[in-house]
Formats: sequence, C-alpha cells, structure tokens
Amino acid sequence: MDSDQANGQTQGTGRRALLGAAVLGGGAVLGLAGTARAAGSRTAGHGGRGLKSLPVPTVIGHRGASGYRPEHTFGSYDLALDLGADMVEAGDLVPTKDGHLVCRHEPEIGGTTDVAAHPEFADRKTTKVLDGVPTTGWFTEDFTLAELKTLRAVERIPANRPHNTLYDGRWEIPTFEEVLKWQDEQTRKRGRQVWIYPETKHPTYFRKLGLGLEERVAKLLRKYGKDGRNSPVVLQSFEPTSIQRLNRLVDNPLVVLLSSAGSRPYDFVEANDPRTVADLITPRGLREIAGYAQGIGPTLDLIIPRKADGSLAEPTTLVSDAHKVGLILHPYTLRNENPFLPAEYRKGGAADAYGDVFGAYKTYFATGIDGVFTDNPDTGLLARADFLKG
Ligand code: G3P
Ligand code: CA
Repeated sequence: MDSDQANGQTQGTGRRALLGAAVLGGGAVLGLAGTARAAGSRTAGHGGRGLKSLPVPTVIGHRGASGYRPEHTFGSYDLALDLGADMVEAGDLVPTKDGHLVCRHEPEIGGTTDVAAHPEFADRKTTKVLDGVPTTGWFTEDFTLAELKTLRAVERIPANRPHNTLYDGRWEIPTFEEVLKWQDEQTRKRGRQVWIYPETKHPTYFRKLGLGLEERVAKLLRKYGKDGRNSPVVLQSFEPTSIQRLNRLVDNPLVVLLSSAGSRPYDFVEANDPRTVADLITPRGLREIAGYAQGIGPTLDLIIPRKADGSLAEPTTLVSDAHKVGLILHPYTLRNENPFLPAEYRKGGAADAYGDVFGAYKTYFATGIDGVFTDNPDTGLLARADFLKG
C-alpha cells in the first residue's frame, strides 16, 4: 500500500510516556528526551535534542524534492536540502539480489529507471505477486547491486511533471549506505544537521524471500553510529510488525504509516489478523501503536476525508486522538499539481498545472498536524511561514 495508491510487542513505554507529555503540552513540541528501553545498551546518538530540534510543522521532502527531479536520486535529495527541507525521505528501501539496500519507491523499477532500454536485462522482466497484487516488470531483488548501478533514474510521472524528464538518465540508484555517508557530508557542508526518514518497503514480502530488511537497516545505522534515540534518522513502515522489529533492534524514532481506512497492512493479511487501518486509528489502536512507535504517518484523507466529488469533508478526530496518546502525525503527501489536490483547490483541469496548494496547506496545517511529506519542500516552507504568521 502506498501514497500513490491512496490517491494510493509492546515496549519502550518510557520514551512513549515522555513523548506523550510533550505533545499533550500543545501538540507542537516533539519530545523524545526520554529514556528508551534498555537505556545505555546502545548509543544515545548525536547527544542532541532529537526531533525536538526540528521546526513544527516539519516539512519532509518526499523522495527528495520529487516535484522537480526524478525521485530517489541524489539530484532529488540535494535539491530538497537546497530548498530548505527539514527532513529528506531518503529513501524508500528495497533490497538487491545480493542483499544491499537501495533507494526505490517500489521493488518494481520499470517506471523509475531506464531498465527497459537495457537489452541485457530483457529476460528479467517478469510477473510477480507483490502483497497480493500481480505486478509485471523488473524487480530489484533479481539484480545485483553492480547490475542496478548500470541503470539510470527517470521521471515516474511525466504526464504530471514533464519538465522533470530533462533529468532522465542523469542519476544512478543510490544505496542506503551512500545515503548515510551523504547525510554526514551534507551536514558538514551545510553547517546544519541533515535529517533522513527512510522507509522499509514490503518487509513481509522480502522476509519471505530471505531478504529481511530491518536487520540490514539496523546494521548500517549501527555502523554509522545513527541508531540512537536522538540520531537524525526516523524510520517508517506501512507494516506495524516491521516497526516492532525495528523497535527491538534500534532506538531511533519510529513511525507507523497508515493507508486508507479500509485497507489492511500486508503483515496483518499474512498473519490472518483481520484488523484494518480503521481499527488502528481507534483510541485503542493508537494506544497500542504508542507502545512501540513515536508517531503515525496517515494518508491525508484520514485527517480530512474527501467527499464523493473529491472536495474536503470535516476533519476527523485523528489528530487529537493521536496526540492524546503521545503520537505525532506526519501525514502524506502534499503535491502542487491539480490531480493530487482536493477538488476545491484545483485550478483548471491540466494534469501538470499547479492548483491552490497554499490553500490546501492552510487547511491541513490548521488541523494540528506535526509535519507533512511533500514533493515540493519550498512550497511547504512558504506555507508553514504563512501558517506561523497566523
Ligand atoms: O512515507 C510517507 C509516504 O512516502 C508513504 O507513502 O508510498 O510514498 O512511500 P509512499
Ligand atoms: Ca515513502
């Protein structure tokens, strides 16, 4: 389940309680100063104030600055920082055949790379069932890292972002290890802490293939000393058991992503757990999440549902319900182009034209969300400035 579709063990009570106290104090303070379980057993990480050091609402560069560059490339990540993003979603993590983590939104890479133009890989095209969905194309788990490095990224949605095709073929697929090094280089170069927000993609699917993601993520975070509660790395996943697994491995802040209310996380499907996202966003479900995570990343429609005509209905109680149990909310995804906006904020019908996204930001920020994923971080920062001015 993902944002495109949305358009598309309980532990750690110490840090949960402390976070809750901070959030209950107004919803705009992100407190992670508490002691994670097994305090002292791992590095505290960067010895700073953790998420508390970030502006709120936090502007998170979704797949970099993917409104302007092909997603999940260093071109996109660099631009997100140039534009001032508080955090960069670098990256959505999927594995290679030889066990490296790389940054692609999906394991299927036909739409985000030039793999179709490589005759040497023509016989790798196949159909697989990915989280119950037959999917045809080329899959990262069928390529070695060396093979993937011969590919180049292309714009995923050229109908919405024709200008971005200018950059097709310019950048290779980053590895997560390269991202961790890049984060340190950029932090030094820019004189400010760079934050990243990686996501484990399809963790149950990959574990069944013998390519478990969480241990690989944890190993790299430890290698670079970024596995602490104040480390500038927030981890996210649509599968709650992936976040629970990460909670046992590292002390980083953790966020459970939530797709549409009627959907079921795929780990629940595999485990015959009948609960849906609607169950997870009840007070009881949120309390359970707060036992192992610090936040949720709901689709924006869980904050303000859309009517049948695509315009916004009344906000739900999700923001206040989540804050009551100490969870922060980083919903996804605000994009400038008409098709991604609620109907009342669209301007004309062109699929590549911008709508009144500032109007949309104003409405969403007014709900009390703690941040937002956006493909256009510069727009998000201007909208935040407007919001904070009042
Ligand atoms: O991680 C927030 C958002 O990125 C979740 O959706 O599908 O874009 O990874 P997706
Ligand atoms: Ca993501």
